[in-house]
Amino acid sequence: MITLNNVSKRFGSFEAIQSVSLSIKSGEIHGIIGASGAGKSTLLRMINLIEQPDEGNVLIDGETLNHLKGKRIRQVRQSLAMIFQGYHLIGNKTVFDNVVMPLDLAKTPKKGRAEQVMESLRFVGLEALRDQYPSQLSGGQKQRVAFARAIVNQPNVLLCDEPTSSLDPNTTAEVLEVLQRINQEFGVTIIIVSHEMEVIKSICERVTVMADGRVYEEIEIEPTGVHKMEHSAEGFIKRLKSSGDINHA
Ligand SMILES: Nc1ncnc2c1ncn2[C@@H]1O[C@H](COP(=O)(O)OP(=O)(O)O)[C@@H](O)[C@H]1O
Ligand SMILES: [Mg+2]
Repeated sequence: MITLNNVSKRFGSFEAIQSVSLSIKSGEIHGIIGASGAGKSTLLRMINLIEQPDEGNVLIDGETLNHLKGKRIRQVRQSLAMIFQGYHLIGNKTVFDNVVMPLDLAKTPKKGRAEQVMESLRFVGLEALRDQYPSQLSGGQKQRVAFARAIVNQPNVLLCDEPTSSLDPNTTAEVLEVLQRINQEFGVTIIIVSHEMEVIKSICERVTVMADGRVYEEIEIEPTGVHKMEHSAEGFIKRLKSSGDINHA
């Protein structure tokens, strides 16, 4: 369980997060939706120990994160993985070497690392691409490498900041399916930040609506499922045409 109690964060005199309270249950897929500038990324960074709140506190399983020290910070960080819109892969490292990075950082025993990496790559369906470089991969493949890297350390929580924003509808569905499997097979708690309602509705059980640094609403929803999303560019274009957003073939 992740709990935020009256959390505020300022940048200079600008209040980016204003007294936000929120709770995320263990094992759920929780969506955070809001327009650009609403404070979504800042909120994730406070859960991820990258930013400290100015007021209030963040708790994970009852432990307050604000005052953690040394070794415990590292342990908690390792239990939290993060996925970004821009993949953040290292260009001069192979797929395998990108995925092994968290194990290097955590100083896990060298023996067994390769097996862990390959298991992760198999889970996202990319074991055949282990020796490729990121520039040789499609957007969806890059994001799946990022997922493999995120889960290689068996985190408890996966924080995803706009994970599908640079992907087409087909690839978006593929990436959301991987996220759903990570949740179902490993019980990982997932937080997805997005400004796209269709993405949030497809796999989230609870949704927090943010605007101007505040939480406006928390809604329980019945996920529509990934299969209900646009699976082809044709369907997507047809819908745009019928809604009058584009008029020309
Ligand atoms: N490091 C920072 N310094 C100054 N302002 C920031 C910083 N990070 C975020 N902000 C501001 O805080 C607000 C919320 O940003 P952010 O959390 O990135 O929003 P979102 O992810 O919802 O688009 C924005 O107005 C942004 O410009
Ligand atoms: Mg953001």
